[in-house]
Amino acid sequence: MGQVFNPAPYAVASRVLRMIADSPIASVISNPRIEDNPLVACNKAFCDLTGYGPDAIIGRNCRFLAGPGTEPWLTAAISDGVREHRPVLVEILNYKADGTPFRNAVLVAPMYDENGDLEYFLGSQVELMDEAPGPSTTRRIRAAEIVKTLSERQRQVLKLAANGLMNKQIAGELGLSEKTVKMHRGILMERLGVRSSATMVRLAVEAGL
Ligand SMILES: Cc1cc2nc3c(=O)[nH]c(=O)nc-3n(C[C@H](O)[C@H](O)[C@H](O)COP(=O)(O)O)c2cc1C
Repeated sequence: MGQVFNPAPYAVASRVLRMIADSPIASVISNPRIEDNPLVACNKAFCDLTGYGPDAIIGRNCRFLAGPGTEPWLTAAISDGVREHRPVLVEILNYKADGTPFRNAVLVAPMYDENGDLEYFLGSQVELMDEAPGPSTTRRIRAAEIVKTLSERQRQVLKLAANGLMNKQIAGELGLSEKTVKMHRGILMERLGVRSSATMVRLAVEAGL
């Protein structure tokens, strides 16, 4: 498991920690059951990207990345997704700890517990470089191309997983056994070339699934 920060009062389920620990992409988990939806876990890639240490991250709402140039309509798009429990992907202007602005392709997606109740939000952040011609577009095109090669069943499983459903709920939705869903998930991760479900969720949203 990669380096991940999740101090005591905020202990989150190990399946959720593993999800961001194994992700090479900057990732955070927030807990909407706590007042103001604070971040309760983050991986080292998030600290490296933003320049904030775990103490300055855990327990705070992720709005600390916003600053004077942050587009209010994009912030509103994230807030709408959070309120309506929908995955959102926006390219928003954010600021690092030292004040450096950066273009952040941020994904925020809901995660449900075994009863199908909202439990956490997953956030993942990718810095876009100004000069490069649309790196985000490149990521999306690549994602869409891979997703197109999947079978209909695999796409269904991926879509529900990207919507934050656990294997049990996906099984229920598709009339499959949990074991079959697990198998599909394994094959999907392999086909998509990802090591963590956090990256898989991101890829699915980038593909517009
Ligand atoms: C898991 C998660 C990750 C988030 N990541 C970012 C982010 O990287 N950048 C950002 O500007 N807002 C991010 N947000 C949104 C902010 O936390 C906050 O909801 C938004 O800025 C609205 O703030 P307001 O309540 O002050 O209007 C994230 C929210 C969640 C739940």
